[in-house]
Amino acid sequence: MKIFVDSADLDEIKELASWGIVDGVTTNPTLVKRSGKSFKEIIEEIFTLVDGPISLEVVSEQAEDMVTEAEDLYNSVSKKYQKNVAIKIPMTPEGLKAVKILSSKGIQTNVTLVFSANQALLAAKAGASFVSPFIGRLDDIGQEGMNIIEEIVEIFYNYNIETEVIVASIRHPIHVIQSARIGADIATIPPKIIRKMSHHSLTDIGIKRFLKDWESVKK
Ligand code: G3P
Repeated sequence: MKIFVDSADLDEIKELASWGIVDGVTTNPTLVKRSGKSFKEIIEEIFTLVDGPISLEVVSEQAEDMVTEAEDLYNSVSKKYQKNVAIKIPMTPEGLKAVKILSSKGIQTNVTLVFSANQALLAAKAGASFVSPFIGRLDDIGQEGMNIIEEIVEIFYNYNIETEVIVASIRHPIHVIQSARIGADIATIPPKIIRKMSHHSLTDIGIKRFLKDWESVKK
């Protein structure tokens, strides 16, 4: 399973990329706001940190405006990085129209705010490169978010659909294990959860013990 960093924090992305575990990045307007940087600053640097799909979200609501905004974003990235641009488009009928147009122009799209398998199926039919079902937000309203991942993965498998499933709105490390067991293509994970995945208290205890024992070894 590929791991994307769900963040617009350039320092965090750089650090996690140095671990050798990052296959891509997803951002959204909330994450850009949280980073405290301008969108321009983020776009200028983010492509230099990770050589994989980088999702950048449009904020227009009409298909034509989404396409214009997407093309502006795509063209604002230097030519060598354009292959990594994935335009995040919200899952609406207007969004589907935009996805169809952008995919015919060879621009990758990531259909976001997906909350059902039917939405994912429509997005894939329109030509989305990625779909992003938000499981944590479903859990928040008392629905088992992971169920839609199972449904989408099964449906895409049945019909050899090439659209990749990005499990999004991940809230804890168990979500990541569940995504991988189901066979989702990608999990997009907030940095703090990637750090939790790397940690085990027995690892810390083991290191302490080895270091202590090493002190009393004749060198
Ligand atoms: O990519 C954005 C998505 O992961 C949102 O997560 O935690 O705001 O539901 P959250």
